[in-house]
Amino acid sequence: MTSTTNKSIEPLFEAFHSEKLDLDNRTVMAPMTRGFSPEGIPGEDVAAYYRRRAENGVGLIVTEGTGINHPSSVSGASIPLFHGEESLNGWKHVVDEVHKAGGKIAPQLWHVGMTRKKGELPNEEALPVGPSGLSLDGEQVTEPLTTEETEQLVEAYAQAAADAKRLGFDAIELHGAHGYLIDQFFWEQTNKRTDRFGGDIVGRTQFAVEIIEACRREVGPDFPIIFRFSQWKMNDFNAKLAKTSEELDSFLQPLVSAGVDIFHCSTRRFWEPEFEGSDLNLAGWTKKLSGKPVISVGSVGLNGEFTSFNSAEATSLDNLMGKLENDEFDLVAIGRSLLIDPEWVKKIREGRAEDLQPFDKAALQQLY
Ligand SMILES: Cc1cc2nc3c(=O)[nH]c(=O)nc-3n(C[C@H](O)[C@H](O)[C@H](O)COP(=O)(O)O)c2cc1C
Repeated sequence: MTSTTNKSIEPLFEAFHSEKLDLDNRTVMAPMTRGFSPEGIPGEDVAAYYRRRAENGVGLIVTEGTGINHPSSVSGASIPLFHGEESLNGWKHVVDEVHKAGGKIAPQLWHVGMTRKKGELPNEEALPVGPSGLSLDGEQVTEPLTTEETEQLVEAYAQAAADAKRLGFDAIELHGAHGYLIDQFFWEQTNKRTDRFGGDIVGRTQFAVEIIEACRREVGPDFPIIFRFSQWKMNDFNAKLAKTSEELDSFLQPLVSAGVDIFHCSTRRFWEPEFEGSDLNLAGWTKKLSGKPVISVGSVGLNGEFTSFNSAEATSLDNLMGKLENDEFDLVAIGRSLLIDPEWVKKIREGRAEDLQPFDKAALQQLY
């Protein structure tokens, strides 16, 4: 590849202005779990990793998923937590480092729900929890959450939102994608509830609605809430929450009313149309239907999608620039390219196509 794009890269480097969040450019670091936080505490190396992205011009950093205050929120002892003094102090240092480098940062608030296996660290005795106790493959693993337990989880998200604001983060992102807890409530295959948290597509948004409202209560009217969702699940890339644009509209409206400011629409390949009869991708449809700014994502600058975790070569950005120029979406999240190369945004800006690096899964072992 000799050039990153034949088109102008200007659309990617225009400032972004919205009601509650302003950014220097349109690039977002996609949330990526790294597992470099022993005992759930992000340390100096993690702070430096995020700082390097800020120094090299990333518009907004969304951190790796970080566990809310619930015993089974994460799987693994080195996944960062978002509760407890030491973990929160670690995050405070991350925020300060990113701000010193002129960047902006949002934590991705996460509960893995039923994707957790019994006996996993950091709390071996904590059982996986989910709307109906069903794994993504439909196996009955535990009892369904009670209504009261569900309400307690809502409050755990709200506590994390309050802490994020207190620590100086610029926004929060709620992880409602990929088949984790919030998405397990969205998905008909994992949510068989008959209380207010179940039912049709609107009923199945109620857990997310209450989380967004509770977070809003904690952070006040001016603090940005980003909501990430996806059609696809980790075990089923063809799954769909919404099979038509009408269904997508029914799904989005309760989330908009609850107080989402920006939607982060997770797809594996950003150029794919979401529904027949239009070129719009999931982000494009979400912007059109919700009237909110949106982040698109999925194999930006790479020729292989991330779920295969194989290597992928750098490719042209022509298609991306076309969609940005058309205002199909507002912001662009970049995952693997930024995982392997803290300077990716700077290199694109300077037209240094020859310096771009291919992605290789060996990169997961290290904090570049
Ligand atoms: C190592 C790795 C970890 C990831 N962890 C998360 C995560 O914690 N939360 C999340 O929402 N998405 C996660 N993702 C998905 C990315 O945010 C992104 O959507 C995906 O990698 C597609 O972007 P890309 O093609 O530019 O890599 C992860 C992806 C990778 C490669």
